[in-house]
Amino acid sequence: MKVLITGITGFAGSHLADYCIANQDVDLYGIIRWRSRTENIEHIWDKLDLLECDLRDASSTRQVIEDIMPDYIFHLAAQSFVPTSWSAPSESLITNIIGQLNIFEAVKKLDLKCRIQIACSSEEYGMVYPDEVPIKESSPLRPLSPYGVSKVGQDLLGYQYFMSYGMKVVRTRAFNHTGPRRGPVFVCSDFAKQIVDIEKGIRKPVMEVGNLDARRDFTDVRDIVRAYWLSLEKGKPGSVYNICSGTSYSIREILDKLVGISGIDVDIKTDKGRLRPSDVPLLEGDYSLFHADTGWKPEIPIDKTLSDLLDFWRDAG
Ligand code: GDD
Repeated sequence: MKVLITGITGFAGSHLADYCIANQDVDLYGIIRWRSRTENIEHIWDKLDLLECDLRDASSTRQVIEDIMPDYIFHLAAQSFVPTSWSAPSESLITNIIGQLNIFEAVKKLDLKCRIQIACSSEEYGMVYPDEVPIKESSPLRPLSPYGVSKVGQDLLGYQYFMSYGMKVVRTRAFNHTGPRRGPVFVCSDFAKQIVDIEKGIRKPVMEVGNLDARRDFTDVRDIVRAYWLSLEKGKPGSVYNICSGTSYSIREILDKLVGISGIDVDIKTDKGRLRPSDVPLLEGDYSLFHADTGWKPEIPIDKTLSDLLDFWRDAG
């Protein structure tokens, strides 16, 4: 079976590639953009084929899909950092929505019968009130960032292509995920890197933070990519699934956990540059639908995830 991962050089993409290599007997393909950083997949370089393509370009997208003719497509490539979507909204919308549209159009024109997982997001739920958790798939979508809007666009395109053409799309709404290789701009990784820099003595013991009151539902990336695989193996085409832990922590609690695991003493300083025009206040999901269809449940506890993330930064050059 041929498996294509878009965004294979990224955080979730590289973990999904690891998962496929370790657990599935597949021919693995990845799409990379010119000048993509490749350090996340250098350890598996000889176990996959990489094809160069910019998904924003319809003809090159069609060409690589025709060259591969995949059975499964995991579409993880995206502009995934919420704050960038305020500074570069059109780029975020084009990359995320048009990039996916080009994949769908290529699959349609080639009349491929492949299954396609699309990486949607809990950011789509946006403004969630305390009496609305745990969030179900049927909860209203009230995105609070251009990024959230771009993910609603991807999500609804997935629904529409399933309804219009019978395309075998499975929409996964992953809640926050973290672990080794997480990019340093995302909150857990940002805090872990600051802590490790303090441990190493290359930073004063002062941590810069943004909004610590937001609550998020974190899952280990290694559990998330196992869910992505199951979404195509056992999930129902046309469905949308929450993928989450079912537990939320305030960002302050996450900070306290990371500092506690490290054992260092720190002062906390709010950096106004880290505050957002509107921050999603509360995300806490319900994954029972996905569990019922696939048997998936998260296995790795948050403290192990955070500890592995600290170790990742301790080992980084
Ligand atoms: N990045 C960052 N840096 N966030 C901070 C900081 C900080 O110093 N301090 C507090 N926060 C808060 C943010 O305001 C937000 O409420 C929360 O920490 C999480 O921020 P991120 O890690 O940047 O993630 P996100 O929730 O905006 O988005 C992530 O999760 C989505 C799923 O819900 C991303 O991975 C998205 O791509 C993903 O779709």
